Amino acid sequence: MAPPRILVTRPIVDDALARLRAECEVRVGPADRDASRQEVLEALRDCEGLLVVGHTKVDGELLDAAPQLRMIANFGVGVDHIDVPAATARKVWVSNTAGSLTETTAELGWALILSTVRRVAEGDRLVRAGQWKGFGAFFFLGAELPGKTLGIVGAGRIGQAVARKAPAFGMKAVYWSRTPKPEFGAQARELDALLRESDVVVVTVSLSAETRHLIGAREIGLMKKSAYLVNIARGPVVDEAALARALLDGGIAGAGLDVYEKEPEIHPDLLRCPNAVLAPHIGSATIETRRRMAHLAAENLLAGLQGRVPPLALNPGARVSGIPASLKWG
Ligand code: DGY
Repeated sequence: MAPPRILVTRPIVDDALARLRAECEVRVGPADRDASRQEVLEALRDCEGLLVVGHTKVDGELLDAAPQLRMIANFGVGVDHIDVPAATARKVWVSNTAGSLTETTAELGWALILSTVRRVAEGDRLVRAGQWKGFGAFFFLGAELPGKTLGIVGAGRIGQAVARKAPAFGMKAVYWSRTPKPEFGAQARELDALLRESDVVVVTVSLSAETRHLIGAREIGLMKKSAYLVNIARGPVVDEAALARALLDGGIAGAGLDVYEKEPEIHPDLLRCPNAVLAPHIGSATIETRRRMAHLAAENLLAGLQGRVPPLALNPGARVSGIPASLKWG
């Protein structure tokens, strides 16, 4: 039996690719950009497996163009770019890499909190521009964290990991979640109350129809003028135009962003905000985590192709597990 064909949309670490190559015929997309829709449609046409690296849109049209597809492994946790119900309807398993990047993304959240509140990126630009005139009692003042309140929007693994680090900085954490999370270990708040009370708001909620523009002009308007907003979840959870207006008008003190509404495009007004730290979606970007993610995605993909429910399947019931020996390869 011929090995199954799979498409990996962008390269992943060599040893994970080698693991896939040992069992499958592997096509790999471009290294320096997302493959275009047309490229993906063509490469996927006769594939049984897909490993999505980045945010390639997987919808009903794409699934219909690949009738042999049985398994989609996402390299990452958020699957807002994959239509999971459409995959389920076509008996295609979808998995993610939940648990592989929790602490790493929470650390980036703290990196953004600290660099925003203490104006690190802004200071770096000033130094490089040759504009630094030396130490001054009132020069480049930021805010301090001890005694302040950290409001976490979204109480999943990453939100909880961000909150766990709050005591190290002397901060009290509160959280908002659509469903109560007693295990969170902090007090819950209504969203409006959290926004009014918090000195730093960190968005960690996943993107869905309900959370698109969850933080819009009204919500930003509830925040203190001295408060900071950090987004490490998905860009469209925050209305970027409203955020940029608030940053430019002094509605809030600053923002740290790792994600954007139309990546890799950035709203032009955000680029004009000196009080915004803009990171290029690097929440999970450490050598160790990316290696873990690659191997987890490969493991899930191979399981699905072998007819076993992928360990991190988001729709485990999409297919009946176990396939007749005659359909197995190797
Ligand atoms: C994730 O895991 O969701 C990262 O943001 C990459 O998509």
